[in-house]
Amino acid sequence: MLEIKNLTVNVADKLIIENLSFNFAKNKIYVLMGPNGSGKSTLAMSIMGHPLYTISDGKIIFKGKNITKASPDERGRSGIFLSFQSPLSLSGVSMFSLLRTAIAGKKDPLALREEIEKTAKQLKIKKELLDRSLNEGASGGERKKIELLQAAILDPELIIFDEIDTGVDVDALRTIAQFMEKNKKGKTYLLITHYNRILKYVKPDQVLVMMEGKIVKKGNYKLAEEIEKNGYEKI
Ligand SMILES: Nc1ncnc2c1ncn2[C@@H]1O[C@H](COP(=O)(O)OP(=O)(O)OP(=O)(O)O)[C@@H](O)[C@H]1O
Ligand SMILES: [Mg+2]
Repeated sequence: MLEIKNLTVNVADKLIIENLSFNFAKNKIYVLMGPNGSGKSTLAMSIMGHPLYTISDGKIIFKGKNITKASPDERGRSGIFLSFQSPLSLSGVSMFSLLRTAIAGKKDPLALREEIEKTAKQLKIKKELLDRSLNEGASGGERKKIELLQAAILDPELIIFDEIDTGVDVDALRTIAQFMEKNKKGKTYLLITHYNRILKYVKPDQVLVMMEGKIVKKGNYKLAEEIEKNGYEKI
């Protein structure tokens, strides 16, 4: 699904990711862990094509196509989704108009509204949040659930959840995990997290550890348990 080849990324002239290579396969859930500042969000932003993150070397191949120079909206349209670690609010833009624009004529607006409302109910998102400007006045956990709703409606193939489990209650955590397990077929998940707790509900195919801009260790869910117990020092 996604091939990262010898990727080197600079942010504000600072080298963050160096010569990183990894293949993310279809129908798999990857968990990416690592200390603060190790480059996890930078990797996510680079895959999505954020202009502040300069790719100075290497390639990003998505579904066999080189997207290293593609714009974020091209990447979005081709099936990549990123939920932000800190979702911003967007004054004057409702969830409905945001998604209607993103879907751009692929669905009838009335059917889309019904789908959003139905999905929001399933994900236990309060209806009033849909009518407000995006994320305005939303709590930390509500913002994460709104990110999940966007992923559910847009139905992307590569879903990157940057700390979607941070700040959410235990019911929301289970909802997020159930969503991933139920919608795994044909998709690839990259779940960036600091915590083991979501792994009680969702079974990762591989756990990756990033340190100083490199993937330094790979393993199964036991690696996440080991990190929780011993920290990153031993790695
Ligand atoms: N826009 C930016 N301007 C300057 N430095 C940046 C920017 N974005 C990231 N960095 C720096 O790049 C490094 C990696 O940051 P990144 O956000 O990728 O870390 P992370 O692994 O996601 O950490 P956390 O677990 O705290 O979310 C950090 O030192 C950070 O300060
Ligand atoms: Mg981060």
